[in-house]
Amino acid sequence: MTKDTSVLLDEKRLFKPNYKIVEEAHVKNWEAEIEKGKDLEKYWSEKAEQFEWFEKWDKVLDESKKPFYKWFTNGKINLAYNAVDRWISTDKRNQVAILYTNERGDEKKLTYYELYREVNKMANALKNLGIKKGDTVSMYLPMCPELLISMLACTKIGAVHSVVYSGLSVGAFVERMNDADAKVLITADGTFRRGKIIDLKKIVDESILQCPTIETVVVVRHTGNPINVSELSGREILYDRLVEGESGECPVEEMDSEDPLFILYTSGSTGKPKGVLHTTAGYMVGVATTLKNVFDIHNGDLWWCTADIGWITGHSYLIYGPLLLGTTTLVYEGAPDYPDPGAWWKIVEKYGVTKLYTAPTAIRHLMRYGSKYPNMYNLSSLKILGSVGEPINPEAWMWFYKNIGKEKIPIMDTWWQTETGMHMISPIPVSPLKPGTATLPLPGIDADVVDEKGNSVPLGKGGYLVIKKPWPAMFRTLYNDEERFINVYWKEIPGGVYRAGDLARKDEDGYIWIQGRSDDVLNIAGHRVGSAEVESAFVSHPAVVESAVIGKSDPIKGEVIKAFLILKEGYKLNTTLIEDLKKHIRYELGPVAVIGDIEQLDALPKTRSGKIMRRILRAQEMGEDLGDTSTLEE
Ligand code: PRX
Repeated sequence: MTKDTSVLLDEKRLFKPNYKIVEEAHVKNWEAEIEKGKDLEKYWSEKAEQFEWFEKWDKVLDESKKPFYKWFTNGKINLAYNAVDRWISTDKRNQVAILYTNERGDEKKLTYYELYREVNKMANALKNLGIKKGDTVSMYLPMCPELLISMLACTKIGAVHSVVYSGLSVGAFVERMNDADAKVLITADGTFRRGKIIDLKKIVDESILQCPTIETVVVVRHTGNPINVSELSGREILYDRLVEGESGECPVEEMDSEDPLFILYTSGSTGKPKGVLHTTAGYMVGVATTLKNVFDIHNGDLWWCTADIGWITGHSYLIYGPLLLGTTTLVYEGAPDYPDPGAWWKIVEKYGVTKLYTAPTAIRHLMRYGSKYPNMYNLSSLKILGSVGEPINPEAWMWFYKNIGKEKIPIMDTWWQTETGMHMISPIPVSPLKPGTATLPLPGIDADVVDEKGNSVPLGKGGYLVIKKPWPAMFRTLYNDEERFINVYWKEIPGGVYRAGDLARKDEDGYIWIQGRSDDVLNIAGHRVGSAEVESAFVSHPAVVESAVIGKSDPIKGEVIKAFLILKEGYKLNTTLIEDLKKHIRYELGPVAVIGDIEQLDALPKTRSGKIMRRILRAQEMGEDLGDTSTLEE
């Protein structure tokens, strides 16, 4: 185990919901709901009834090929149909589905009916490009309506989408495109970031020659960044031109419950990113149920999830969850403190946001500016707050609770992962809360903290977080890498349980306190960055022979990268080289890989079999005992 997990649980503050929250909540008796969840199949099949199925399932859960679980076998359904088409014949037809705004104050609204037409046009256009059920379409787009439309269009015709976060750069982009075998890439002329336009098309141009599977590149005109149309190559086409003249009607593809829905890449402890594969019906059921329970979604809600669509939070809780529940989802393109640190609070007031779901790093960032900015705006529309991505520090929790929630509304600290697809450990609005814990597993989820042998550890003791029973939105495999799927998640701890890769402990109320990763994955501002990916990027620089990176704690980002490098002869680590290395990493991986510090070493600590012992570097960096060094090379 790499981190100290024996610290005593000293956070004793308890926050209970007020009567108004209880009165309004869909679920008032949490214990009873958790009890219901113990009958897994009954619980999840009841939740699956909320959707329109073309054909009902035979079996709720098929465990015959563990860990390749199947949910709602032989059912026929379509996610886009349930998220969009279904609402057209109801009183939600003219309700706003997507409310887009950005740091410049531009605004675009699409009602469910308008969204339906746009999705159909794009779905027809994709078919004209030769996209069929099962083909992969990649997107490298900013937070713009066309991204949501394109994802839903894929889903409607049974194509698999693979969204690459627009903050990733050339190296990361190429690797993801090629692994996913994408046929079509949808990108844009740029994205707005702090008053500037970041040219995404340029990054695509620099990468595309290394992506042989891509037959067509579709370009969305989004920022007005000039694109020279006559310079578009033969395989490039503007989005507007592509959908022009397409019909606003498109037949829906009846998907099997287990047909692939999307691939989303995330970092693991080896260099190659993991293509997490999610399938159709279980994902829908899990995401819609958790959003409804955890954020108590009602008619009239204005839902704002601040995550980027390029991450799982955006997939599950910015697009699919809210639309499956017929809610209005706000899409914001910009930074939390631009043009000023009141930017987010201004949006809450202007539109009357009711539920706000964000990340600890953003809260810590905004906390630096004090209460002045939130106090300038009327935040009384807010009813529930949420946090995701990393453990929220009690100070940040309290700041959020006092300054944004005005000590009246609860904070849902939701623990989950790209792999889990849906919230797993989280309070609901009626739960008693303690700052810094995601509280209890949701109904239908069996989570525990265990030792290496798979035995539950006593309360207060640290251990590995595991999930003991399957859940509907679970990922089904790693794309192109079944072996890694089994080895990384299902083998290390005995008992056929899912190993989440996090360390945790339980307190006397059974509340689970997450303590960070147990593997070599860094969590930078809530984004997973694999040490090995950063290390290979360093080694691809001409001055570097070998590298090892560790996470170093940072007051705002949670963690940043500390790199130890062995340089080629003749190179010295001076300011010019440091700057050059930072630029190189940014070019390869994008701004997510934040370098805090670089140090030159003569040798790296390694085991006799040649593995880098990052644990030793970490201990040395923190001035801690080096622990067991018996396997260390001379
Ligand atoms: O370490 C945990 C942390 O984020 C990891 C999952 O990262 P990713 O797949 O990128 O998904 C992030 C958004 C769901 C977890 O293994 N994490 C996520 N949420 C929390 C958290 N750690 C503590 N508390 C949370 N609420």
